[in-house]
Amino acid sequence: TVISNIATLVTNDPSLEPGSPRSSKFGSGGRSPLGLVRDAAVVIEGDRVVWTGESSKAPATDNRVDAGGRAVLPGFVDSHSHLVFAGDRTEEFNARMSGRPYSAGGIRTTVTATRAATDAELEANLTRFLAEALRQGTTTFETKSGYGLTTEDESRALRLAARHTDEVTFLGAHIVAPEYAEDPAGYVALVTGEMLDACAPHARWIDVFCEKGAFDGDQARAILTAGRARGLHPRVHANQLSYGPGVQLAVELDAASADHCTHLTDADVDALAGSRTVATLLPGAEFSTRAEWPDARRLLDAGVTVALSTDCNPGSSFTSSVPFCIALAVRDMGMTPDEAVWSATAGGARALRRDDVGRLTPGAYADLLILDAPSPVHLAYRPGVPLVRAVWRRGRRVEP
Ligand code: NIG
Ligand code: FE
Repeated sequence: TVISNIATLVTNDPSLEPGSPRSSKFGSGGRSPLGLVRDAAVVIEGDRVVWTGESSKAPATDNRVDAGGRAVLPGFVDSHSHLVFAGDRTEEFNARMSGRPYSAGGIRTTVTATRAATDAELEANLTRFLAEALRQGTTTFETKSGYGLTTEDESRALRLAARHTDEVTFLGAHIVAPEYAEDPAGYVALVTGEMLDACAPHARWIDVFCEKGAFDGDQARAILTAGRARGLHPRVHANQLSYGPGVQLAVELDAASADHCTHLTDADVDALAGSRTVATLLPGAEFSTRAEWPDARRLLDAGVTVALSTDCNPGSSFTSSVPFCIALAVRDMGMTPDEAVWSATAGGARALRRDDVGRLTPGAYADLLILDAPSPVHLAYRPGVPLVRAVWRRGRRVEP
């Protein structure tokens, strides 16, 4: 298949930008990180991209798709979501918008509902949110456990998630389970022992909510280290609600990603800049909790690799829309439109340590979107408008 008549193609291949050095670092100085090609075509064979370039030079193939002078970009890589849950938290959101602050305690409401749900109910919920995300252009997603908090409920969440994605994260350490409220050390022992034994076979990643009211730095280190010993790679919910040890712990353990990064000291920023740990920003959470925005500009100017994801969950960020997050990041976090699009595609791939998604270059998966717009800038320029017109995943058209 060849998709031709593409006004603007986002490859995320920096070597394609004329006159620019091969570099993954970019600031506000004007150069696009997106590896743009004008009047472009993409050739797909099986599930992979085999060629990208100017339309006039595209190899001939039978199956032609006319993009109609629109923009094409890699499918979004949503590297942070919590989609295995039951129930919702409408009332909590409603109360919060009337002035009550957000706290980690609301997680318990979802834990109760999730434990009470059948496998079929949880999977139906998961499938619904995945379909919703796919329509909005997400072709790779990570998702976590963390609303079970018993060995059985956590391992069942991961089993269900693993039917739908390879990027499955064990978050038994989301909060201390209510049964262990008086014995947090006992809960850490459970998570690093029996629960990890049951969960490790179903997951690729291990995550901890490192925050006041959840797990402190020493507990988080013990949990992530135990996970690593069982072959899971660390990622961390870090510095979301307050300053704390999460980001530096993530760097210390070579975590793929430190997520949220809302409250950062200069030392936190320096640690990220000197590491290969990605800062994953989740503006849906600040939007839905009316919290202070993370400062993407500060991170980018320091040379940190930034990813943008939804954090889709019923408590702090109930959106599955990456385009919405791109618009917020541009409006309120100091990102240029091109930087935000890079972070939601190539950045997400970095946060999952993947090089087969998040770019449209030969060898990558043919996961791509046609936008109802001539340029990816429109994702921020036309907020709230459903611009994703068609989606290919693994070389097959899946939407509409
Ligand atoms: O990423 N921070 C911890 N976990 C979620 C919130 C989960 C919830 O409130 O249910 C988050 O924001
Ligand atoms: Fe989260």
